[in-house]
Amino acid sequence: MDGFSYKQGVLHAEGVDLESLAEKLGTPLFVYSTSTLAAHLKSMRDAFQTIDPLICFSVKSCSNLSILKLLVEQGAGLDVVSGGEIYRALLAGARPETIVFAGVGKSVQEITYALQAGIYQFNVESEGELARIDAIAAQYGCRARVSIRINPDVADRDTPQKTATGGRQTKFGIPVTRSARLYAPGLYGNVDVVGIHAHIGSPIHDSASYLACIDVIEKLLDEVEQAGATVETINIGGGFAAIYEASDCASMSLQEMGRIISQRLLGLKARGVRFVIEPGRSISANAGVLLTRVEYIKEGWDRQIVIVDAGMNILLRPTLYGAHHAMWPIRYGHFSGHWTHLSTSSKSDSHATLSPVDVVGPICETGDFFALSRPLPILSERDTLAIFSAGAYAMSMASQYNSKVRPAEVLVIGEEYRIVRHRERFEDLVAREMDAIG
Ligand code: LLP
Repeated sequence: MDGFSYKQGVLHAEGVDLESLAEKLGTPLFVYSTSTLAAHLKSMRDAFQTIDPLICFSVKSCSNLSILKLLVEQGAGLDVVSGGEIYRALLAGARPETIVFAGVGKSVQEITYALQAGIYQFNVESEGELARIDAIAAQYGCRARVSIRINPDVADRDTPQKTATGGRQTKFGIPVTRSARLYAPGLYGNVDVVGIHAHIGSPIHDSASYLACIDVIEKLLDEVEQAGATVETINIGGGFAAIYEASDCASMSLQEMGRIISQRLLGLKARGVRFVIEPGRSISANAGVLLTRVEYIKEGWDRQIVIVDAGMNILLRPTLYGAHHAMWPIRYGHFSGHWTHLSTSSKSDSHATLSPVDVVGPICETGDFFALSRPLPILSERDTLAIFSAGAYAMSMASQYNSKVRPAEVLVIGEEYRIVRHRERFEDLVAREMDAIG
């Protein structure tokens, strides 16, 4: 489905040769594919077509303005978690009535900004937040539409602990058992509690945990309706898995997932609710690659260490979660095909001599690695590697740690490309500090 493939042994994004692009623009470099982003959004829409949800792309997964604009133009709403993300959403042209705002720690300033912008819904995570929104809405003479983010106590067994959010031990949401009374009409003067929201974590590889969560939502819905209140929206969050390695292809497909979840939700549609989903990585992860050049190759005590010019400051996922990202040289012999086939194809490829190496970055931390003991073709200094599935939670989590500038981002469309974020300069590193040194 995604637009990255090897043609005559060179990796291309759609029609753009990434070897030439890396040569021209330098590395590290993020490259995204327009057609892939659009295709993934469409697949999401197709998968859930029977319930026709508002699809709010999760901005935190990939927050580049041009990418947000592209998705908004294709009909996406946006899921935001901060004032900064609201700012991005509005700049990208999102209509306020398609923006939903989550997060456990919304500040007074952020709530005020969201109310003034007229966003669709707050996904509220505590009673304190409800009271705060109510007070601010009263102050500005407006009303706020709110979903209660419930904590359903549903823990997906395959989701990494650091990104699981549905269990009772996490900080997220209001325990579902404490939620029903918050829907009582008139409880708040300026807040309309009209929705149920849940996001149980990510990535989630099959429908079972969503179904378990929907059971909890339905029980709450029954309780709320029996008490005489109405629920207008049900938001089941995001978390739909992306393919990071060949073995992920065995996971339940998005089509199947969407069909099963929609079938379950269809029963609730009859009760007059509108659905919202908040996919991030399933749209953006495989729409982007990170190109990084080999700076040095050195012999360690017992293994070869490949040092590349990108580090954990640019792609933190392997360090933070032990996440797997496929990687491969952007020029590789006569290999032709799709990157998800690399590990299997290369074994049967007679040209392949693979040897296990550590691929590490230049940052002064032991945890600064992209892969340990990873079988890769023999590499040379100045080769360029593509790190795949880098469209989600990569640039959006990047920092300037070690005073490294953040890389440029490029959006490819067919045979053309556009720089959608310029590489930072040293001046950018110190811009907010200069006035203090006189
Ligand atoms: N909705 C809410 C309320 C969320 O908190 C998130 C992600 C999403 C939707 C989108 O989840 P997605 O569809 O992208 O899986 N940095 C981690 C992921 C953290 C997810 C945070 N919340 C990673 O790199 O895997």
